[in-house]
Amino acid sequence: MKHYVIVGGSKGIGKATAELLAAEGHSVTIFSRTPYEGPAHTIEWEEFDVLTDSWEDRMPERIDGLMYSVGTINLKPFKGLKPETFEEDFQIHVMGAVKALQAAAANFNPDCIPSCLLFSTVAVQRGMPFHATVSASKGAIEGLVRAISSEWAPKARINAIAPSLTDTPLAGRLLSTPEKKEAIGANNPMKRVGEVEDIAEMAAFLLSDKSSWITGQILHVDGGQSTI
Ligand SMILES: NC(=O)c1ccc[n+]([C@@H]2O[C@H](COP(=O)([O-])OP(=O)(O)OC[C@H]3O[C@@H](n4cnc5c(N)ncnc54)[C@H](OP(=O)(O)O)[C@@H]3O)[C@@H](O)[C@H]2O)c1
Repeated sequence: MKHYVIVGGSKGIGKATAELLAAEGHSVTIFSRTPYEGPAHTIEWEEFDVLTDSWEDRMPERIDGLMYSVGTINLKPFKGLKPETFEEDFQIHVMGAVKALQAAAANFNPDCIPSCLLFSTVAVQRGMPFHATVSASKGAIEGLVRAISSEWAPKARINAIAPSLTDTPLAGRLLSTPEKKEAIGANNPMKRVGEVEDIAEMAAFLLSDKSSWITGQILHVDGGQSTI
């Protein structure tokens, strides 16, 4: 049994991944602003805001893996975007991940090869209008993953998943009606938007020892949208 940390595990992809890991017999500590609400007994919740709280003495003592699943989606034309919005997005996507990774790495289980997971977006691989802030931050995540993977190998691993639009609370405004969901799904090569399980299955695999020869990679779980 492994012990995983999921920062941003109360909702969306983080919650689905925590529940998959719990179903496989692992324990999970979730950090988020609002509580985890669900059936799994091996999931514990800690209140934490990545923008204001410190990691000092907050990480579990022995960590086999960490997933940072916090994000925002500010879709606006570049012309009207304030520099502050870029800075705020960088704080939540990149600095939040950097601080969590540094705190977790200090408590990595020395008896295993821990695995960490961050999130990018399809909009880094493919230029998409109105994605300037999220693409700038997630592009930094992709560079960070490659850099850290080279420092950590062979003692620890780190990868990222770059999803296309997936039905979570984050995407709630874009997918608020069945008609919107169908219309956006029609633009995807697989003719649907992502569901949390599509991403969580890959996340649980990347956190597990089953993916022990995969590090420094950006996995495009996106219905083919990044390449087709
Ligand atoms: N969904 C998509 O279409 C999509 C597409 C591409 C990339 N992604 C990326 O995939 C990752 C997961 O996205 P998701 O759709 O699952 O997001 P989500 O549904 O919004 O869930 C985000 C999680 O982060 C937590 N969180 C938000 N702000 C926080 C803060 N300041 N401090 C601590 N926790 C915070 C939320 O919990 P609380 O509110 O309780 O704090 C929640 O548990 C993100 O990095 C996102 O950018 C998502």
